[in-house]
Amino acid sequence: MDKVKSARKDDIQSIGRDLSEQIKAKTKDIHVKAENTQLMLSYQKGQITMAQYKLLLFSLYEIYKVLEEELDRNSSHPGVSPIYFPQELARLESIERDLEHFFGKEWLKKVIVPAATQRYTQRLHMIGKNDPKLLMAHAYTRYLGDLSGGQVLGKITQKSLGLSSGEGMSFFSFPGVSSPNRFKQLYRSRMNSIELTEVEREAMLEEAVRAFELNIQVFDDLQKMLSITEEPQKAPATLISSLSVVHWSLGICAALVTVGIGIYAS
Ligand code: HEM
Repeated sequence: MDKVKSARKDDIQSIGRDLSEQIKAKTKDIHVKAENTQLMLSYQKGQITMAQYKLLLFSLYEIYKVLEEELDRNSSHPGVSPIYFPQELARLESIERDLEHFFGKEWLKKVIVPAATQRYTQRLHMIGKNDPKLLMAHAYTRYLGDLSGGQVLGKITQKSLGLSSGEGMSFFSFPGVSSPNRFKQLYRSRMNSIELTEVEREAMLEEAVRAFELNIQVFDDLQKMLSITEEPQKAPATLISSLSVVHWSLGICAALVTVGIGIYAS
């Protein structure tokens, strides 16, 4: 598989004492690994399919549901309140709108996610309950990612899938953030304002790496599910359209066995 070079600046030499700089440096290598997952490579090549996007939205729904539930519940915790920006960042409602656009009013019954997504949400619940300040590492990984490379991915999604402006793509849009760069600066300064002991700081850096790993595992599982569901597309087009429903169901069943699938939201 060909590798796409990371677009990130080489900032390793100038790591200071600021948590925002340390976290960026610590996750630099795993960020490259995330960029080079098959799913993200499809994105960067402009080859994202509707099936990939819809399945990704299901997992993002589960992840943000739990992340934002835990952030809300712990919003007055001293490790959470400085980086608590629900107006600007919350993604859950946008994802729900996108899912309704693609799957209709009954979308919730159709939510299907791989085991890796469940592991991710279990981790979020666990730290939300036992060590809420570590939520910052997860909020950083998802929200700052969405405000960085995520903005490019939004444009690619629209182009690759031929979606008319905004349709099914609320996830990528942050109406409460007029300048992503300025907002990211504010977010970093808030991260830096959180007081941490050396041990806590180290745990935070480790948790950020874990957050990236969990995302990578989700992408890999989704890709496995997709490689099964998309196989029959090699058949003639007429056959595909008449069999597409059966194919999707059978594919998902096979993927359930392979990936050890998870949740049906209720
Ligand atoms: C196609 C895949 C991706 C591309 C092309 C991409 C690209 C980028 C770029 C260009 C930046 C800005 C770097 C800078 O300002 O120096 C960035 C930042 C970031 N990305 Fe990604 N990214 C991708 C995937 C991901 C994924 C999957 C995650 C995590 C789930 C992620 C998390 C982050 C985070 C947290 C930052 C902020 C770093 C910081 O300023 O501290 N990215 N990304």
